[in-house]
Amino acid sequence: MIRGLLALIFVSGVSMYLLTACTPSSNSATRSAQYVVDSGISEGKRWRRDNRHFAVEVKTEALATDGIHDPDNDAIHTLQEPAEALSAFPLGRRGDVDWVKALSLGIIEPRANLLEQGQMTVLDMDIMFKNTGQMPWVKFPHTAHTQWLACSNCHPAIFIEKKGANKLSMDGILAGEHCGRCHDKVAFSLWTCERCHNVPHEGTPKRWNESLGIPPTPATAN
Ligand code: HEC
Ligand code: HEC
Ligand code: HEC
Repeated sequence: MIRGLLALIFVSGVSMYLLTACTPSSNSATRSAQYVVDSGISEGKRWRRDNRHFAVEVKTEALATDGIHDPDNDAIHTLQEPAEALSAFPLGRRGDVDWVKALSLGIIEPRANLLEQGQMTVLDMDIMFKNTGQMPWVKFPHTAHTQWLACSNCHPAIFIEKKGANKLSMDGILAGEHCGRCHDKVAFSLWTCERCHNVPHEGTPKRWNESLGIPPTPATAN
């Protein structure tokens, strides 16, 4: 439980402080150049920061206006701005940090617990959700979750530990149930549909396939 909690805290805004400590600002440009990896969402396609499918600048609140820090307190100037701290991180198309990529590239190494003892219990098991209408199916990866969450973060309170035992719907998710307990809050936005709906099937309209790799035409770019 504590492990999972730690991981959750990590991916939430609180992480800014930790990142501040380990992201030198002076060489962020050179660091960003390293974050070119061999494949993206689409097969055989290179992921890079200047890919127009992805944002170039991180979208984040400034310290003075984030509603958390007191802008009238002089100590605010001793803190690094989140935009600077996060400038070299891989980004998603909405300008949010792609934490899954950051972890897999080794840019961040979250601790399993406060004392830096032990490791997360990673479970390599995907669950396919097919009740998605024309939308691509949803492949839920246990791996990407259990690298920073404990089983008890989801089982049994959010999900009964049995395939098909939970009644999910997009309405419910958008209202903050199931996946929506974390996504749009401490995990990536619900508006990046294609990160969850990532397995096209026969009935899937072409535009959704495009969102999974082929760059959008100008008419559908926004
Ligand atoms: C965090 C993951 C996630 C994201 C992001 C997401 N979905 Fe879903 N979506 C699901 C899951 C899970 C289901 C349920 C599938 C099932 O029960 O088999 C679902 C179901 C659906 C369905 C089927 C009908 C229904 O109401 O349940 C539609 C349509 C849908 N999503 C559209 C979207 C659209 C459009 C977006 C982006 C605006 C989106 N989804 C973003 C996970 C997600
Ligand atoms: C982020 C949430 C989350 C975490 C964390 C998580 N799971 Fe799951 N788990 C799910 C979901 C979602 C399902 C599918 C439920 C469904 O189909 O309705 C599932 C299903 C399962 C199933 C049922 C598989 C089947 O075929 O019936 C098992 C077993 C399971 N999880 C074990 C674990 C274990 C062990 C861990 C920790 C190492 C873990 N889970 C962590 C969300 C999670
Ligand atoms: C307990 C919190 C929690 C719940 C519940 C949860 N997620 Fe996640 N999810 C995360 C975190 C944390 C990450 C990794 C950080 C991030 O991507 O923002 C993640 C990552 C993912 C990824 C990996 C994306 C990638 O780029 O590889 C997918 C896909 C995903 N979630 C889908 C789902 C779906 C579908 C559900 C519901 C069936 C769900 N999640 C429920 C917290 C959660």
